Amino acid sequence: MISDFCKKEDFPIFKKKFNGKSMVYLDSTATTQKPKQVLDAIVNYYEGSNANVHRSVYKLADDATELYENSRSNVAEFIGARSNEIVFTRNTTESLNLLSFTIGESLRKGDRILITSMEHHSNILPWMRLEERGIYLDYVGFDKEGHLDIEDLKSKLKRETKIVSVTHQSNVLGTINPIEEIGKAAKENGSTFIIDAAQSVPHMPFKMKEQYDFVAFSGHKMLGPMGIGVLYGKYHLLEEMPPFNRGGEMIKDVDFHSAIFEDPPIKFEAGTPNVEGAVGLAAAVYYLKKIGMEEVRRHEKHLTSMTLKKLEDLKNVKYYGPRNAEERGGVIAFNVEDSSNLKNDLESKNVKVDRLYHSHDIATFLDERNVYVRSGHHCAEPLMRSLHLPGTARASFYVYNGEEDVEAFVSSLGEL
Ligand SMILES: Cc1ncc(COP(=O)(O)O)c(C=O)c1O
Repeated sequence: MISDFCKKEDFPIFKKKFNGKSMVYLDSTATTQKPKQVLDAIVNYYEGSNANVHRSVYKLADDATELYENSRSNVAEFIGARSNEIVFTRNTTESLNLLSFTIGESLRKGDRILITSMEHHSNILPWMRLEERGIYLDYVGFDKEGHLDIEDLKSKLKRETKIVSVTHQSNVLGTINPIEEIGKAAKENGSTFIIDAAQSVPHMPFKMKEQYDFVAFSGHKMLGPMGIGVLYGKYHLLEEMPPFNRGGEMIKDVDFHSAIFEDPPIKFEAGTPNVEGAVGLAAAVYYLKKIGMEEVRRHEKHLTSMTLKKLEDLKNVKYYGPRNAEERGGVIAFNVEDSSNLKNDLESKNVKVDRLYHSHDIATFLDERNVYVRSGHHCAEPLMRSLHLPGTARASFYVYNGEEDVEAFVSSLGEL
């Protein structure tokens, strides 16, 4: 186990038996399991403090508002930000859409947005929307091992590049991108710099830097509940931006034909917010802080390098992304070659065959052994196109995984 502060028993779902056996959960990149401490925080909130926030003066409502705002402060402190720079959203996807519908709207025909070929669809589609208005989307490539091509990035930074939006860690290749360096280059170019931190804030120490304008991440990928996400934004930028949604809560004054909006971050939180989500996320942050983010990273690096070594011994397995665990997170996308006689036979008759097992077949095979991995394109189709692949299987680790999970995964895969 990772440390004394994190036990598998903290996670009630691991007590559940599937076909009489425990599961090996290797899909934390998609969503993480939740410790009892997070579940308790949510139940306690509903049992002891539930009321709508920011609008009533009675004691219970005051308690709920205090819990909600304390959660914001805890999340802010976790990433080295100030609490008025933390906007609660539904998830990373909504955080990035918020930016597209606010700062994106101020772009003009001929402006450019620079992203990479390893982005999740959440950091592509909100920007692609703007192409309808004559705004160009440029993509930075990556090398054979999945390292981002920094020279390509620099060469694509043009005067017209108004936004640079980059994933910190790829959810497929696992590559950890040098965001400090990319951010500096973006700022020198006068571009707004945005980080998709959905796969980094949960897995490594993350501290805010001057060159980071906006950072997006999701609570459910870091032990928190679903339906709560975060958008960090520099305060003066949030102040300049128009609201995203409009309605209750986000106003100072409304007249028949005009309104004065609240200051950030409330300006961006129209309607009743997800208070239970914020409270659960704060409990998740507390749990992660007790383990220590350096320790989370060390643990995942250890499991990753152990897995990569074992996969290299399986001759029919091909994995993607950097070979060195230092350069990648705890996510391993892979395929398995089918060297059956039938395929050999067909090839000898010059019939073109796909040598790889379909990734869903790999995941089904592992599922039969209670090993849960994701399969498909992982919401990163441009990345799959760059790799000339229809999809991959993907195993990913988090704080509750141990060496026994790696053993179970690799030995099950070895049976294929
Ligand atoms: C890198 C990355 N960005 C964005 C997202 C989208 O996250 P969400 O579905 O929580 O909005 C994911 C989800 O897997 C991701 O891995």
